[in-house]
Order: sequence, then C-alpha cells, then structure tokens
Amino acid sequence: MKVTQLIVICLLSFVLSKTTIALEMDPHSYARPQEVLMTHLSWDASIDFDQKVITAVAEITFENKTDASHLYLDTKELKINKVTIDGTDQEAFFELGPGDFYLGKALKIRITPGATKVTIHYQTSPTSHALQWLDKSQTKDKKFPYLFTQSQAILARSWIPLQDTPGVKFTYDAQVQVPKGFMALMSASNPQQVSKDGRYSFEMKQPIPSYLMAMAVGVVEFKEIGERSGVYAEPSQIEAAAYEFGELESMIDAAERLYGDYRWERYDIIVLPPSFPFGGMENPRLTFATPTIIAGDRSLTSLIAHELAHSWSGNLVTNANWNDFWINEGFTVYFERRIMEEVYGKPYADMLSELGLQDLLGSLDYFEKEGYSDDTKLKLQLDQRNPDDGVTDIAYEKGCAFLTYIEHLVGRQKFDAFLNQYFEEFAFKSMTTEYFLEYLDKNLFDKYAIQVDPKLYEEWVYSKGIPQDYIKFDAARFNQVDIVFDQWLDSKGTKQLDTKEWSSHEWLYFLRKLPREQTIEDLTKLDNAYQFTQSGNSEILAEWFSLAIKNKYEPAYKNIEEFLIQVGRRKFLGPLYRALAQTQEGRQWARQIFEKAKPNYHFVAAHSIEQILK
Ligand code: BES
Ligand code: ZN
Repeated sequence: MKVTQLIVICLLSFVLSKTTIALEMDPHSYARPQEVLMTHLSWDASIDFDQKVITAVAEITFENKTDASHLYLDTKELKINKVTIDGTDQEAFFELGPGDFYLGKALKIRITPGATKVTIHYQTSPTSHALQWLDKSQTKDKKFPYLFTQSQAILARSWIPLQDTPGVKFTYDAQVQVPKGFMALMSASNPQQVSKDGRYSFEMKQPIPSYLMAMAVGVVEFKEIGERSGVYAEPSQIEAAAYEFGELESMIDAAERLYGDYRWERYDIIVLPPSFPFGGMENPRLTFATPTIIAGDRSLTSLIAHELAHSWSGNLVTNANWNDFWINEGFTVYFERRIMEEVYGKPYADMLSELGLQDLLGSLDYFEKEGYSDDTKLKLQLDQRNPDDGVTDIAYEKGCAFLTYIEHLVGRQKFDAFLNQYFEEFAFKSMTTEYFLEYLDKNLFDKYAIQVDPKLYEEWVYSKGIPQDYIKFDAARFNQVDIVFDQWLDSKGTKQLDTKEWSSHEWLYFLRKLPREQTIEDLTKLDNAYQFTQSGNSEILAEWFSLAIKNKYEPAYKNIEEFLIQVGRRKFLGPLYRALAQTQEGRQWARQIFEKAKPNYHFVAAHSIEQILK
C-alpha cells in the first residue's frame, strides 16, 4: 500500500470515528450540528412562581465547522427578547421559524465569521411543556409551591434554547435565583443545604445530551445515604425515602463491578411530588423519582437500579436519535436486572424478568390488535411523529430480550467483557442501531469466531414481533405463587394461605394470574382477605384497580378516583384510563375524573390521557 493511501485511510477512519455515529440527521430537531456544533451552555436564570415563568440568559458556545452563516437552535413556547454575539453588546439578527406542535420553532441566528458564542435573553411561558408548576396543595407537605422539569424526549427546548437532539453533547454551568428558603437542584453538582439568598451555582463538567437537562425547585431537605449518595425530599418524606433507598450503595458497587467505573462522581435521588409523570428519570447525578416507589419495604427499588444503570447505558452511551431508543432503554433494562441479580440474587431477578416478558407479550398483542404492528420493531420509525410514541415495552423489554438472547449465545463472561469495552469505548458519545450491530459483529461474534444465524439482526431488530426462540424465564418464586393460587381457587378465603414472605412481585404475578372476568362476590372475598383496595403499594393498587374497573367492583371506585387524581405517573394512568374507556359509562366517568385531575398532571401525562379519551 502506498503511503498516500495509508494517510487517506487513516484520515478517513479518524473522521468517521468522530462523526458518523453522532451526527446523523435527527428528524426531531431543527439543529444542524454537522455545520455548527454546540459545545457548552452557560445558563443564568431566575424563577418566578407567581408568574410561572423562568427569565433566563443562555450563552451558547459553539464550533462552526463549516463556516456556516447561521446557528439553528430548537425552541418551543419561548419568548426571545434579544440575541447578542461573542459576549459583546452587538445584537445578532435572529428569526423564529413556523411552529409545530411537537417540534416547536427553529431559532435561526445569524453568526459572524469566527464567532464562538451567542447569548440569548428569553422567557419561558406558563404552559411550557417541560415545566410543571405546582401550587402548595399539590405537594406532599402542602406548604410551598414546587417546580420541576421533564426534558426527555424533546421538551428541553421549552425551557432552554439549544440543540435539542441526543446526538449532540455539551457541558454546562448555571446560576439560578429562586425565592429564599427554596432549594434549587439540577442534573449537575448540587447543594445539600438551602442558600441564604436563594442563589445557587451548578456545574456539569461531563458532556451530556439536552434531554438530560433538569431542574427541581422546592422546599426540600437532603439526607446522606452513603459516601457518594443521598436523597432529597420534602421534609415529611425524607426519612421514609432514606430508608427505602438504604441499599443504594450496594447497587452502585454492583453496577461498577459489572460494567466499569461510575463516571459522574455523586449519585443522588430526589423524590418529587406525586404528579411526576414517570417512575424515574435518569438525570445525571440526580435521578428524579416518583414517590409511588416508597412502599415502606424497599420492594420497588428495581426502578432505582434502572435509573442508576442509565448512568452507563443512556447517559454515557446515548441513542443518537429517538428511532434508536432501545439503545438507551433495552440496555438499561438488561443492566437493571443484572444489578438486581447481583444485589438480591437470581431468584429475585428472575421474577422481574418474567413479569417483564409478560408485559412484552401483552404489548405485542395489543399493538397487533390495534394496528400498530410496525411499532413492535426495535428500530423505530418515528419521523413526523411524537417521539413519545416510541416509549413502549418494545424498546424496554424486547430490547432487553435481544441482549439476553445474545448473552445466551456467547455466554455471560464474553458478553460482559464486550459490554465493558462498549461502555468504555463509547463513553460520552452517541450510538445508532446500525453502528452498534456492526460493532457487535466485529467485537463479539467475529472476535470469538462464533457462528450466528445471518438473519439474527433482521429478525430481532428490523422485524415485527419477537422470534420464537427468545429466552424464557421460569421464576422459582412464582411456582410457589402458583400453588397458593390454586389453593385460593379451592378455598376462596376460607383458609389462611401462606403469603407472608411475598414481595410486591409475587402479588403482581398473583393478580395477573386471576381470570379477567370476575364476579363481585369473588372480588369481595379477595379484597376482604388481602385488602387490595387499601394497599399502600402503588404497583399492587394499579393492577387491582384495573381488575376492579373491568368488573365494575364499586367498593374500589372512591379509591380509584383518588388515585387517578393524586398520582400523575403515566405508567399507571394509561392502563387505568384505557380500562375505563372500554365502556360508555366508564368513559364518561373517566372524563369527569380527568377534568378534576388534569391540573395535577404534567403535560406529558395529560397529553397521553387526552389521546386515550379522544
Ligand atoms: N428515561 C426513562 C423515562 C422516559 C423515557 C421519559 C422516555 C421520557 C421519555 C426512564 O429511565 C424510565 O424508563 N422510567 C421508567 C422506569 C422503569 C423502571 C422502566 C418509568 O418511568 O416507568
Ligand atoms: Zn429508562
């Protein structure tokens, strides 16, 4: 080979390794990072609870790679007052493009040659989709208002103008002014005490994608859990939260043993008010969590293992765009179960896997019936759609099932070594499905000369449904439940059954096993025996309520309504509203409940329920 050829090859592979993965066109962003790439955000903001607006200045540092004349940012519902250039008073010409309900508006800023910064003076609007402003009555302690953000998937643009695509990563610092007595927290270095003047500074030194921009402002306290971990919550809940997450350090240790160093220094959790629309959100250094996992017995903490696992899968190696969502969530579910296995043993993790497969099969069935079978492919096609449509069991459970399948093909040892290398090599970068499969071929199958079915990827990644030979789980602890279940059918409450050692997972399995058609009499017996309607465990409640709705079990109605008004977690709301919407009268009742509950829902939850009741 000639020297010149060699140089060309070297150059080419350098350029490819730097750019191909990260900077494909993202159908959900107006940004053009191939031309001008955002590298840092400096944010100065002031929070106004009365007006429900954030007034802020965002200074964006960028690299103009192609001598482009304009910088394109994403915005949504932002009022742009002024843009200046390069830290001077010189105003830059800017314009906002046409609006789209999901994508918002492009902010096109004219930049001078050689410029490296723009400074945007702007305000959010009270309806900005990422933000939920809560009155004091909507918090746990009911004493002070509260604000939190939810940026994933494409809502960061509704509180900060930026390149809102997971293919771009940037560092940030922030200065935030809040009312005295309030604490401000971000996905960054955080305070542990309330500041005297309501002013807080933050720094995120590792590059992150925009969907991990996060902030919470409220009257909360901090309590340490371990050396590098702790929890924030409203005062009345801080002790319960600290107890619930007491095993956090062993989870972090287990995760590090599995897939390498934790790269974000601290790992804290904030327990948000019940309207938080998700179970958890993996904001770096500060997981946002729903209070509905505080069950009192640490039985729902696999959710924390999940958010912690994102510190590798998702936050280090990030899906390049939302069509590759399984690259975040499938890996994370797989990783979550491995952490749970390390900390609680295989019999425990097997229960989670089996329930996960039940969810997956249920969803595959549902999508097939409703005519959305294309959405059962791992590689999604969400162009022109809300990326939120991709948040289904497919990315999570089919993604996990695919990785589990590979693990079984090659053996755990090789697969773990491969994953370690993967997280190391692509840390702080973005990943597409195609690039991952190529990498898998080279660094796992080829490396060990393992023959695989040439249709492996076609069947798992680009086809609907799930291949027949997926790995099944038969959780031993559920065999015990099977026995008790049969005893229940025989005795219907006349005999005391042995359920003392059951965790919420056994109860879920038990409830799911009950035939969907039930008589009021049988439901009453169940309820009398096990007090499901009064359960303090949100997972059990949600499962029970859907059975109650289906069979018109009226004694549960009051609690169902209360639950739907109190709790804004979409995972619970969706199935319950869908169950209600099955009948004419149920739909009517659902609409009445929704009217009352809507002020308590974050936009992403309210929007999903509106689709169901439409
Ligand atoms: N990152 C997700 C939540 C998310 C996904 C928000 C897409 C917006 C768009 C988070 O890690 C998650 O998966 N949460 C789950 C918990 C889990 C244990 C599966 C949830 O909220 O239920
Ligand atoms: Zn997740």
